[in-house]
Amino acid sequence: MSHSPSDNPLLRIDLNQPFSDQKPGTSGLRKSSRQFQTPHYLESFIEAVLRVLPGVAGGTLVLGGDGRFGNKEAIGTIARMAAAHGVARLVTTQAGILSTPAASHLIRQRGAVGGIILSASHNPGGPEGDFGVKVNGANGGPAPESLTEAIYAATQVLDGYCISPAVAPGLDVIGTYDLGPMKLEVLDGVEDYVALMQQLFDFDRIAALLRSDFRVAFDAMHAVTGPYAIRVFEELLGAPAGTVRNGVPLQDFGGGHPDPNLTYAHELADLLLKGNAYDFGAACDGDGDRNMILGRSCFVNPSDSLAVLAANATLAPGYAGGLAGVARSMPTSAAADVVAKELGMACFETPTGWKFFGNLLDAGRITLCGEESFGTGSNHIREKDGLWAVLFWLQILAVRGCSVAEVMAGHWNRFGRHYYSRHDYEAIASQAAEGLYRRVRNQLPSLQGQLLAGRSIVTADDFSYVDPVDGSVSGGQGLRLLLEDGSRVVLRLSGTGTQGATLRVYLESYVAPGGDLNQDPQLALADLTSAIEGLAEIQVRTGMAKPTVIT
Ligand code: G1P
Ligand code: ZN
Repeated sequence: MSHSPSDNPLLRIDLNQPFSDQKPGTSGLRKSSRQFQTPHYLESFIEAVLRVLPGVAGGTLVLGGDGRFGNKEAIGTIARMAAAHGVARLVTTQAGILSTPAASHLIRQRGAVGGIILSASHNPGGPEGDFGVKVNGANGGPAPESLTEAIYAATQVLDGYCISPAVAPGLDVIGTYDLGPMKLEVLDGVEDYVALMQQLFDFDRIAALLRSDFRVAFDAMHAVTGPYAIRVFEELLGAPAGTVRNGVPLQDFGGGHPDPNLTYAHELADLLLKGNAYDFGAACDGDGDRNMILGRSCFVNPSDSLAVLAANATLAPGYAGGLAGVARSMPTSAAADVVAKELGMACFETPTGWKFFGNLLDAGRITLCGEESFGTGSNHIREKDGLWAVLFWLQILAVRGCSVAEVMAGHWNRFGRHYYSRHDYEAIASQAAEGLYRRVRNQLPSLQGQLLAGRSIVTADDFSYVDPVDGSVSGGQGLRLLLEDGSRVVLRLSGTGTQGATLRVYLESYVAPGGDLNQDPQLALADLTSAIEGLAEIQVRTGMAKPTVIT
């Protein structure tokens, strides 16, 4: 093959059919672990990636994962394939443990041509769970659409793959090894990331808070953030041993579902919301890019979290100069918009998915961004960053010297409150979900001007985004019903599930300062909930009496 140096001995494995599992428009591949164990499966997708990613031959590539079942074996296979494709230097980590945000940082720091992250994010792991491969580009972010389209096209004409016959070294000992003509570097995956956090936040100030009687519980959910959190909270910031719970990454995440929300991180949620031994709680997901923030008797919804970070950003050394702007995904509440308007900065509304923030960050148009799905981040890398968000919150609490609940109350008193909830209906039969969705989409033109929960629908559309940096258009991003009083309902079908389809219903209503800011969100949104149930016929069409997960 032309892209392999001739002095590099390699095996060429022929495939008798192209690879058909890669979906166009997705920046990776997420499937069951079983599927990934079928012969040539991982290799086929990786071959397409290595053929298409610019600069592979002679370049540096970053590789690591969240430690789930299959992680180390996949690293060995990919390393041998990288060697066969002429990669000059492959940077990986001890035990193959590398969080998504740390990978993003490493790609940028090393000037790599991109990275391969082995994770199915918050999906369960283990032989019966899921596995995944995510592809990031040279800016450290999820592969842009142009690249994912090219990878998809390559899968469609795949006739074989190349792999070095050399044996890949183990991943236990830090050092640089030869794998054929390629250098394989095994490093401590925690160190560089932690150094970046020390540049952004005032560790002395946070340490003083954590050494006082302020009690923190961090739940790593047996996933990738354990080693990072132990280094940061217990070793560097001096929090008591045991602050980090479930801190050892396990191949099956202890049988759990490593998604930091009120359903799957309920042990932590109970500690904070029902008990009174802790002042602050946080959890991250499988690969470390998501975060959940809790205070004593106080859950911070992720849309509010983004708004609070934006309003208090200058309290952190890394953001002391102010923010260029903020961005949120469309289904995320408009809480950040209100802050941006008040502080006179730009605010962007992008489709769901982190890749849409990349162009805005690269162009310097925004500094902070976030999604309602427990994702928050900034221009320090090109992925959302769970531990970064936790440290940002601790920085704010350390400087302001108040509780999470006080921060929230103060925020709502100043900017008003966006009552917000997401209702997920998981693992519905695909046909039923698509039928429901199509029916509402077809109704959109006639819904304009109609009433929903007694309020007039001023806009009923399928969200379409024009990228302000490169002008590209992404349509079909979710059905929006915007009401006259600023409240809204959004329907979307998940793009990340692996079983059937998942319908997401996003509900939001705004109460200005001076209004009732202390309602239960589900009660505040009850009229919208029953109105959309009637309009979309969710129960009848999904056969589900209630959502699987309510956030
Ligand atoms: C979900 C979230 C979305 C996030 C993505 C990847 O996607 O809703 O905000 O970017 O996971 O973490 P969905 O399943 O809704 O397509
Ligand atoms: Zn994740």
